[in-house]
Amino acid sequence: MDSIDVRELRNVLGAFATGVTVVTTIDGEGQPRGFTANSFTSVSLDPPLVLVCLAKTAATRPVFEAAAGYAVNILAEDQRDVSRTFASKVEDRFATVDWRPGPAGNPVFAGTSAWLDCSMHQTVDAGDHVILIGRVRGCGHAPVNPLGYCRGAYVTFGLEQKAMEARGRQTLVGAILERDGEILLVETANGGFALPTAETLGKPGRSDGLLHRLAGLGAAADLSFLFAVFDEDNDRRVSIYYRGKLLDGPSMGQGARLVAFDGIPWATLPSDAVRSMLQRYVAERREDEFGVYVGDEVSGTVQPLSRAV
Ligand SMILES: Cc1cc2nc3c(=O)[nH]c(=O)nc-3n(C[C@H](O)[C@H](O)[C@H](O)COP(=O)(O)O)c2cc1C
Repeated sequence: MDSIDVRELRNVLGAFATGVTVVTTIDGEGQPRGFTANSFTSVSLDPPLVLVCLAKTAATRPVFEAAAGYAVNILAEDQRDVSRTFASKVEDRFATVDWRPGPAGNPVFAGTSAWLDCSMHQTVDAGDHVILIGRVRGCGHAPVNPLGYCRGAYVTFGLEQKAMEARGRQTLVGAILERDGEILLVETANGGFALPTAETLGKPGRSDGLLHRLAGLGAAADLSFLFAVFDEDNDRRVSIYYRGKLLDGPSMGQGARLVAFDGIPWATLPSDAVRSMLQRYVAERREDEFGVYVGDEVSGTVQPLSRAV
């Protein structure tokens, strides 16, 4: 690809935060079809136009190219599983969602943040994708947070609110830090293992907080996103966990080690809440839920984050 480094291009495109949509239509046999897309963009208000880019390699490409229109379902933050289903090769993707035909006849899902139903305005050939430009025939929204997507991971805006509400309460701030499929764990006093935590996130240069703790382990990290916020100790303490990339370290002999997913000592983790959070993390990583879609020339589909960065 000329002189552009593909890996860098993916990282660059992945930094542009988007929502997550499922684009749907009805095929020639009257069956509902759809795929997960974050390439949705608004185009024009007058006339009302939107677009979505569909990979030429997608199985549904002929269906959408021939379609009279499509609906865009803007997913709510509790619809990660819908995103996953419509990005997978599951046979009957629609069996798992509650839907009805929109004003233009295309499948509109229940429980979304917003939706638009469109007639096909134009299809444009563009590299390894086809741009589907739709003219909006009907739309609606609900007061629920949309699901976000950035740097190959889902972002839940509601978590930020929950973390804000934790202000003034006792907090524990921790991190799930990964490099090449291994997670950073620290040894505890009783010989077990835990995720690195501190009472606050802290600031660079200050001696309290998680950032200082990580520096003490010889580790440099990029805490990209909130991953979980939950109450512990009968609601006396709020735990706030970030996920991110381990950029450097840990230094030898600092009581920290990198552990592969398969080698996580589950039984020694400090609590059930931490265990189930980390299990969710590992499951989502395995299912490529953190895959980054950038539709480049490598494959135009989901790439696991570990290969993408
Ligand atoms: C968050 C996310 C965003 C995606 N965005 C797009 C997109 O904009 N265009 C696209 O063609 N595929 C996108 N994909 C990949 C498709 O959803 C996936 O390849 C799907 O299996 C295509 O279905 P099909 O091959 O049955 O048509 C995305 C996947 C995810 C997880």
